[in-house]
Amino acid sequence: MAEIKNRQWLLAARPHGLIRESDFRWNETTIAPLKDGEVLVRNLAFSFDPTQRGWMSMDTYMPAIPLGRVMLAGAVGQVVESRRPGFSKGDLVQGLFGWEDYTVTAGEGLMGLRKLPSGTEPLLALSLLGTTGLTAYFGTLTVGQPKAGDTFVVSGAAGATGSVAGMIAKIKGCRVVGIAGGREKCEWLTREAGFDAAIDYKNESVGEALKRHCPKGIDVYFDNVGGEILDLVLARLADGARVVLCGAISRYSDPSGVFGPGPKNYFNLIFHGARMEGFLVFRFARQFPEAIAELSKWHAEGKIINRIDLQHGLENAPNTLARLFTGANFGKQLLKLADPD
Ligand SMILES: NC(=O)c1ccc[n+]([C@@H]2O[C@H](COP(=O)([O-])OP(=O)(O)OC[C@H]3O[C@@H](n4cnc5c(N)ncnc54)[C@H](OP(=O)(O)O)[C@@H]3O)[C@@H](O)[C@H]2O)c1
Repeated sequence: MAEIKNRQWLLAARPHGLIRESDFRWNETTIAPLKDGEVLVRNLAFSFDPTQRGWMSMDTYMPAIPLGRVMLAGAVGQVVESRRPGFSKGDLVQGLFGWEDYTVTAGEGLMGLRKLPSGTEPLLALSLLGTTGLTAYFGTLTVGQPKAGDTFVVSGAAGATGSVAGMIAKIKGCRVVGIAGGREKCEWLTREAGFDAAIDYKNESVGEALKRHCPKGIDVYFDNVGGEILDLVLARLADGARVVLCGAISRYSDPSGVFGPGPKNYFNLIFHGARMEGFLVFRFARQFPEAIAELSKWHAEGKIINRIDLQHGLENAPNTLARLFTGANFGKQLLKLADPD
């Protein structure tokens, strides 16, 4: 095979505060010949997820990315060459690939190497039918257990996970209140995504607005942000409430490097016989096929809108990741590199 040039972003520094382009280093290299069991993939699109900041910083549910190694992302690509049984040139595949034009993989790591059915739309596979849609699905249905008539509150509501969580709760007959930053996002939630109410945490008092929109208390809270908003919700729990701990993005860029302090109002869990439960989406991996089928059906029926925020070009990967932590993204943050052949 002719020599293939590969452009890539390496991790140059552990982040301190907000993500900066200087946390990465641009590199140009060539692809080594494949070994048995390996596949050469041309990357088509990357997913951007707040958890990537954790991979850059510390050991989490997977080891920290070593400094000097290529930065990782959930990705969809197309097989260029295969020395792995079951994979052929032209196949669309999904896995944890590098921020680079081409990735050589033997399918190791958390996400393995999954062949996508032919005709799969890469951007859909990385959004509603990818990790974030699945997180919303299992966090809402299995952890949150919403019932018709419940008041369901979700933060990060105009983001990838939060918007889908709220729309699933609507399908289940809940009254849904979203918390998001800015007027444009809040208007989209109530006018297009079908939410009953939206709270603009950047421009109004969240405590007052929760009192107004949730007069009987909150039955399910899907928490994407942690911090002060979690505390304000805990102050308004209904009896038997379920608090779904999905993420705490308000704490991720804190220069102290710690997620705490923990919530002040946790005692309300005792007063209201409520529970608070954290989860990682990978816990439900065996049930992913059924969830993907149901999410696809809801999407086809128009009950779930899959809002995507699409950036372009490998050069823009660092700035695209940074968008998540300032709220610049509106919907699922993806970056497109190329179309499939
Ligand atoms: N448990 C799991 O398995 C799992 C899996 C996937 C994701 N997650 C978690 O789910 C959450 C959402 O992830 P996502 O991929 O769907 O991202 P996203 O919501 O599409 O994007 C992140 C959003 O967070 C909001 N945000 C940023 N800084 C904030 C702050 N200081 N206070 C409040 N909101 C802030 C911004 O929206 P605004 O403009 O509204 O501020 C931003 O658009 C994250 O906490 C993530 O870690 C968990």
